Amino acid sequence: MDIQALRQDFPILKRQVNDNPLIYFDNAATTQKPRQVIDAIASFYENSNANVHRAIHTLSLEATDLYENSRQKIAEFINSKDWQEVVFVRGTTEAINLVAYSWGLSNLGKDDEVLVSLMEHHSNIVPWEITSKLKGFKIKYANVNSDGTLDYDDFESKFSKKTKIACLSHVSNVTGIINDVKRITKAAHDNGSLMLVDGAQSVPHLAVDVQDLDIDFLAFSGHKMLGPTGIGVLYGKKDVLQKMVPFQGGGEMIKEVSFNPGSGCSISWNDLPWKFEAGTPDICGAIGLAEAVKYLEALGMDQVLSHEKELTKYAVERLQECNNVVVHGSCDLSKKCGIIPFSVKGLSSHDVALICDNYGIMIRSGYHCAQPLHEQILKLQSSDRASFYIYNTKEEIDRFVEVLKEIGQQ
Ligand SMILES: Cc1ncc(COP(=O)(O)O)c(C=O)c1O
Repeated sequence: MDIQALRQDFPILKRQVNDNPLIYFDNAATTQKPRQVIDAIASFYENSNANVHRAIHTLSLEATDLYENSRQKIAEFINSKDWQEVVFVRGTTEAINLVAYSWGLSNLGKDDEVLVSLMEHHSNIVPWEITSKLKGFKIKYANVNSDGTLDYDDFESKFSKKTKIACLSHVSNVTGIINDVKRITKAAHDNGSLMLVDGAQSVPHLAVDVQDLDIDFLAFSGHKMLGPTGIGVLYGKKDVLQKMVPFQGGGEMIKEVSFNPGSGCSISWNDLPWKFEAGTPDICGAIGLAEAVKYLEALGMDQVLSHEKELTKYAVERLQECNNVVVHGSCDLSKKCGIIPFSVKGLSSHDVALICDNYGIMIRSGYHCAQPLHEQILKLQSSDRASFYIYNTKEEIDRFVEVLKEIGQQ
């Protein structure tokens, strides 16, 4: 990849922050957008804006084509067998809530169990905790080793005949560790359980093939992969989605609402995937996400991952020069994407992030929506996190290390 050429596609990378060139290392939170994505969104509003599926006029037909072609593009990107398996949602959080409410409320009861790992983002914990209060099922938490890697034996040993679904992030948003979801999916299926994968940190960074992984659900967010905010995907196997009831009610998700004065309304659901897309969807969000997918495909996901691994290897090596910096979790690059959690001795994570900001460097501080992982496993109240993407460079890492060294001398 020609990183210097690619950086020209990202207008925001030209700006200064606090009189310094912007160094954006908060990509696990959200990524920057290339000109191609910004233009696709502007072009939709300038040329084709109308609601989808509802009218027979030219603009509506154009908008519908753009929206549905985007779905097709995204289905191909994750190697879904069928475009009907791709449901547009707001993001990973809404995708997991959709499964917890739509599938969970109908399929889980007080004798059932849901298996979740302790490394999950709150988005893959809280929806299950809320629905467990409603339906009385038990949540079992699989252990994580002290270096942040998944305790596979513990996960596998916690399956029981009561386990109806297992939920695991493909890549941890705190450590960048890549989980072997194929292994856990096999264990889930051997046990007769479904498998949900939180792909928020994997789909943007590595090739994800839902058929190869054989997972039942995959959730991911457009804004973490060069796309706009407000759009994401729930992938679900067709036979599983077909058996589920809608998550929200309204327009678009119904075939018919016929009123009978004696008995009220009788309602039939629309086909997949529209059964799960109540109301006007984020049309330009879907178009922007498809454009982001095209951008990533042109680079090649293998190239994306290898660039991130190279940056991570370089950053981990250079951070070792800083006596005041502790890197958390495993640094085994064969199982890690471009996320580095760290602390600076004697300083709170927010202080470090604020100092970096003074130098134009954007990093994340806090517990990154993964409080159980921080407190139970890493034994930390919080940490700092540098997370890389396609436009980051070794020169930016050099500057970052220089700033961390300076902090140590203050
Ligand atoms: C692993 C993981 N899961 C879920 C989410 C939630 O994503 P969103 O806020 O886009 O719904 C994030 C966001 O940081 C994440 O990193």
